[in-house]
Amino acid sequence: MSLDAIRRISKNHPRQLIPTMNWTIRCLTMADYEAVLRLWRESEGVGLNESDAPGPVESFLARNPGLSRVALDGCALVGAVLCGHDGRRGYLHHLAVAKSHRQQGIGKALVAACLGDLARTGIPKCNIFLLADNHAGGAFWEHNGWAKRADLLVMQIPLPRHPGEQPLANSPNTGCQSC
Ligand SMILES: CC(C)(COP(=O)(O)OP(=O)(O)OC[C@H]1O[C@@H](n2cnc3c(N)ncnc32)[C@H](O)[C@@H]1OP(=O)(O)O)[C@@H](O)C(=O)NCCC(=O)NCCS
Repeated sequence: MSLDAIRRISKNHPRQLIPTMNWTIRCLTMADYEAVLRLWRESEGVGLNESDAPGPVESFLARNPGLSRVALDGCALVGAVLCGHDGRRGYLHHLAVAKSHRQQGIGKALVAACLGDLARTGIPKCNIFLLADNHAGGAFWEHNGWAKRADLLVMQIPLPRHPGEQPLANSPNTGCQSC
């Protein structure tokens, strides 16, 4: 809904509930962790796994300082995305916007903030991992200019979690619902 449309509704129907669009974006810190996890859990299409525990998220943030973002409406956390890079490619994980705040440009603004930082760092391209059955998520990315790489497949091997533990080379990807 455009700002003009909101102003019009507000003038003609002063008591009608309308979106406030008072949201802001800032860097994601570990202080946001519980609220971010809640948002991810409530967001269809976001697959959580062991890498979303506090330790790995803290480690991800430390390796990619200042790149991940949250959106806030007042004190309420209404959007989040993890952003990082490996020196060659950027990666966004778990973009999510609260259902109450969708279609207000928050997802787009979170992504734009991340891509701006990656570009300034000299990273030429950014990748996302999308669960194959997340059609609505895929439509969002395509609508915003992202293209599927039909010539690529993601392949993966689990690594030992403890010294001496063998990689489970021939096992299915147990417990991991996203990349
Ligand atoms: C996908 C998601 C993050 C979009 O957030 P949002 O804040 O509602 O998106 P925005 O308001 O910023 O939309 C930006 C643009 O994309 C469009 N858009 C939003 N959701 C869309 C969808 N599902 N399909 C197609 N276009 C979409 C908007 O209409 C807008 O278009 P415009 O710029 O031409 O006006 C949100 O729907 C969500 O959290 N989904 C669940 C989690 C998920 O699937 N995440 C992505 C996979 S990792």
